[in-house]
Amino acid sequence: MKRIAVMTSGGDAPGMNAAIRAATLIGRAAGADIVGIERGYRGLLEDAFVPLGAQDVAGILREGGTILGSARCKEFHQRDVRDRAREILARREIDGLIVIGGNGSLTGAMRLADASEVGSGRPLKIAGIPASIDNDLGLTGLSIGVDTAMNTIVEACDKIADTATAHDRTFIVEVMGRDCGYLAMTSAIAVGADLALFPEAGKPESEIVDQIVDTVIAVRTRQQKRARRVIIIKAEGVQMQIDRLKVAVDARLRERQPEAEPSAIETRVTVLGHVVRGGRPSAFDRLLGSRLANVAVRALLAGVSHRMASWMPPVELPEEVGMRSPADPYCWLVDLSAVLVETENLLKGRSPLARWRAGAFDQIEDALLL
Ligand code: F6P
Repeated sequence: MKRIAVMTSGGDAPGMNAAIRAATLIGRAAGADIVGIERGYRGLLEDAFVPLGAQDVAGILREGGTILGSARCKEFHQRDVRDRAREILARREIDGLIVIGGNGSLTGAMRLADASEVGSGRPLKIAGIPASIDNDLGLTGLSIGVDTAMNTIVEACDKIADTATAHDRTFIVEVMGRDCGYLAMTSAIAVGADLALFPEAGKPESEIVDQIVDTVIAVRTRQQKRARRVIIIKAEGVQMQIDRLKVAVDARLRERQPEAEPSAIETRVTVLGHVVRGGRPSAFDRLLGSRLANVAVRALLAGVSHRMASWMPPVELPEEVGMRSPADPYCWLVDLSAVLVETENLLKGRSPLARWRAGAFDQIEDALLL
């Protein structure tokens, strides 16, 4: 293994730079040449390679985003486009590729190194590093960026809670997470929110509206001074558009409480949007990025391919699916195709993990949120 390329792809996540830095420094120390590919698969198709040395990664550990840039590249679904990418990698004499990203990015890596497509072409070893604030990848307990995103949400909601309390208001705060409710569920617990709405619950719109209204009335009838504010965290994956949700909630509150003060029935909404994806990585995301990259680069150097470095999978893994990393007992090397299957199961609510997450949240919700 002489030359390893590193790319970040898809939605950026705080901590990606820590992974780039660790792959560069550890790979170089082991005698490999490490190069970066800018802007993910799009940059690969544009032959946008840059050398990566100690100087290039100095001081990046604390920076959010990714120094390599990132992109979404729909064309990569086409076989002829992947052939072009393989030609470029061969011309650049790349032996191994580390892809730091989420579901789509890791799927791209699998296709790129698919034996039936590579044929007699130059063989390519691949390693994935899970990075997505959504925490929607299978077979890893956490992905890079999740912890920072959660901290950002908590900080924002704490601020919202101050003004909400001052005005006796109800806020619905929408957070990113694509089709996965993990960020909404976990940050609701950390914030002490009154309700979390997440797509895995599969509730129809009218039930969601009722749930919010019941929560608002329950909190307001408790009459505790510090409980006058109502904070509801909504995952973006809950399909009902937030402004429409506000109108429906206010109308239902007015019906149920015709005598109430306006502040008790005028809901405010805040969409945190891309704020959740930015910012300096937390200490944990710096550590996670560094440790997963250590495991990924060492796997490639040892000739292991088609694996994803994983942080303590939250399920027991049979031997053929994953093995504990010899380099780090908290990290695993899991089969990349099994990751993609498990990710789909997770998103469709079919995996034991999806059921466990929703069940564990329900128990905590009953005890803490209301
Ligand atoms: O996957 C990360 C993520 O931030 C999701 O939470 C969100 O739905 C999506 O990316 C937004 O993508 P874009 O930045 O391309 O609009």
